[in-house]
This record gives sequence, structure tokens and C-alpha cells, in this order.
Amino acid sequence: MDVQALREQFPTLRADEPLTYLDNACVTLRPDSVINAILDYYTKQPACAGRSPHRWGTAVTQMVSRTRRKVGRFIGAQPSGVVFMRNTTEAINQVASGIDWRDGDIVLTSDREHNSNLVPWLQLERRGVIEHRPVPSLPDNSFDIEAFADACADAGERLRLVSLPQVGNLDGVEIPIGEVAAITHDHGARLLVDAAQSVPHMPVDVKKLGCDWLAFSMHKMLGPSGMGILWGSDDALDELEPRTAGGDTVVDASFSGFEFRAGPERFEGGIGNYAGIAGTEAAIDLLSGLDMGEVQLHEQRLNRIIGDGISGIEGIEVIGPQDAAARGGVTDVLVDGCDVHDLAILLDEAGGILVRSGFHCVNSWFNARGLDTGSLRSSLYLYNTEAECRHFVDTFTEIVNAIR
Ligand code: ALA
Repeated sequence: MDVQALREQFPTLRADEPLTYLDNACVTLRPDSVINAILDYYTKQPACAGRSPHRWGTAVTQMVSRTRRKVGRFIGAQPSGVVFMRNTTEAINQVASGIDWRDGDIVLTSDREHNSNLVPWLQLERRGVIEHRPVPSLPDNSFDIEAFADACADAGERLRLVSLPQVGNLDGVEIPIGEVAAITHDHGARLLVDAAQSVPHMPVDVKKLGCDWLAFSMHKMLGPSGMGILWGSDDALDELEPRTAGGDTVVDASFSGFEFRAGPERFEGGIGNYAGIAGTEAAIDLLSGLDMGEVQLHEQRLNRIIGDGISGIEGIEVIGPQDAAARGGVTDVLVDGCDVHDLAILLDEAGGILVRSGFHCVNSWFNARGLDTGSLRSSLYLYNTEAECRHFVDTFTEIVNAIR
């Protein structure tokens, strides 16, 4: 992978003195091709898909079908299972609101969930629809497959859904989804995978994972904001009631009833984010031209520079496994004696380094430990360099030593 050539494709990295962007778990940078695809939609054929037969409508309809195919191919899936959504959060909410829950159903998650894979279940629990049970992780936040198997056995026939992140946004820890899928299905339950932090960073093939639904966001993989994907196997999608019924979701409707379409379009009611879908196609094109295994190794190698560089500083505690490679491209630290938001602002002002501070939408993990100060997280992507990682380590060390 030619990182320098890739960097040339990003306007923010071509600046004379580019900032060091290490907040990729939140949102990645966007390349020219994505920005131009969005612009082209608005300037050349700003029409809708699936409705109007004129030339612009036809071009947009073709672009949407093509993008659905490319997204499917990128995750080893058929296009019929690819639903365009706003983001991972909306995709998880579609599953949560689309299942025909039975009395006593249990949903299992991990104990270090992003709020988007926690609050929808808590909402259902508060309404008395389901029971939510978090499965405890090992002390270093690694997945405890035995605790998971025990939790499935405890839930017994009431187990309806397991919903887990393939890679955690707090700590970069990967969950062995293949093993989880086998155990989940042995119990007759469904598996939803939050792939927001995996699909952008590593090879993902839904056939190998064996999950029923998979959700991810384009803004974490070079694509536009407000675009995400829900993938489902044919029978798993069939099981869901569409949450946004409306235009283009039905074959027909009258005052006495309606019939939903068979394809993924039945979940995509209303005029869609076609500029976002055009940008999605460009992002998938760029990533499809890379070896995602190489992307993963690149991030792991860089993460070691950051992990090794800052973990030895007094009062710094790395969240998750101490081996940086086991955290993908994420290094998230608790910092004794400094406010993490002050630290993030100083990193920006003194070194032009952009990282995220706070709770990273994983409030429950911090609350369970009585930690009310949050953490400081660096997160890498394919365009980051060794020099940027060293700059972060040096600047971080200098600032922490100066303010303590
Ligand atoms: N999930 C995003 C993050 O971790 C918002 O920053």
C-alpha cells in the first residue's frame, strides 16, 4: 500500500502543513473522488432513484443499483441484502424496532457497548418488551467466550438476539464473531454485528462471519456523513418490519391495505440521500482497490508506535489489552492528573493533532467503573504515517509532563 500516494488524494492532507488527524474511529477524512461524486450528483443529475423514467432519474437509479452491488461485493454479500441507512445507529434501531418480539425475549450485548448498541435495547427493556443482559468481558476488555456461552445457556429458549461489536470503538478489541455466531445459532437466536469499527479497517466477509445482520457507517470509511449500511441475510431481512415505510417501499397501496416490495428498498422509504450514495460508491471503489488485510497490518504497526510510546508515561493507563496489535488502530488512555479535554485542546493547539476525548459514547463502561473524567483516544486509518505517530507521542509526552 502506497501511503504517500493515498495521502495525495485527500485535500486536508495536501495542505502545506497538514494537521495530524487521529480521530478516525469517529469520522475519517474524505478523498477527492468522494467529494467530487457528491458534487457531480448535485451539479449533473440531481434527481431521484426508482421513480422518474427521465434520463436523470434513470442515471440515479442505475447509480444506486451499482452502489448496492459494490457494497455487497465489498462484504461478500448479495446486493439484495444491502439496505441504505443513515448510519450504524439507524441500522441497529431498524433491527430493534423491526423484530416481532415475544414475551420474555432476552438480548445479549457486551459490557462495553457504544450507546447505539445499548440504548435501543434499554428502550425496549424500559417498555417491558425485552430483557437486556450485558455479558462481562475479561479484565483487559477482551471478549470472554466462556462467559458468553454461559450467558446463552442461562438465557435458554428466551435468547432471541445477540448484538455485539466486531471491533470495539473504546479499545479496538475484536470479538471472534465466527465462534459467537455458532453458539448464538445453536441457541436458535439471531446475531446482529455492529461492524462500524471493523468493515473500514479489515477484510470482512459476512459469509465467513455467519451473522444475520451487519451494520456499518460510511463516514468511518472515507464516505459521506449520513450514510450507513444494514446488511441482512434474505431470511433475516424478511423477518424485519420496515421502520420507515413510505414512498417506493411498496408494490401497491389502497385504503384497505398495502404490499411491501420484496427487495431492500422496502426499508428505504422516502427520497434518499443520493449524493451520499454516490459518495458511498466512490469510497467503496477506493477501498476495493486496496488489500484490506494490508490496511489492518498498517494500522496495527502504527498503533504499536503510539502504544509503546505513551504507555510507559507515569499515570497513563491504556484501556484494553496492553499489546497494541490487539487494539487494531486504537489507543485509548486514562490520564491521571490531567483533564482529558484540556489535553486534547493542547494537542491541537501545540501540535496540530486531532484526537477525541471524553466517553466515546461508551458511557456505561465508564459509569460501571465510577470514572467520571473520560479518556483520550487516538485512532488510525490507512493514510496515517509513522512520522505522525511519533509526533503524537512526543507532543503528548511533552504536554503531560508540562501540566503535571
Ligand atoms: N463511534 C464514534 C466514535 O467512537 C462516534 O468516535
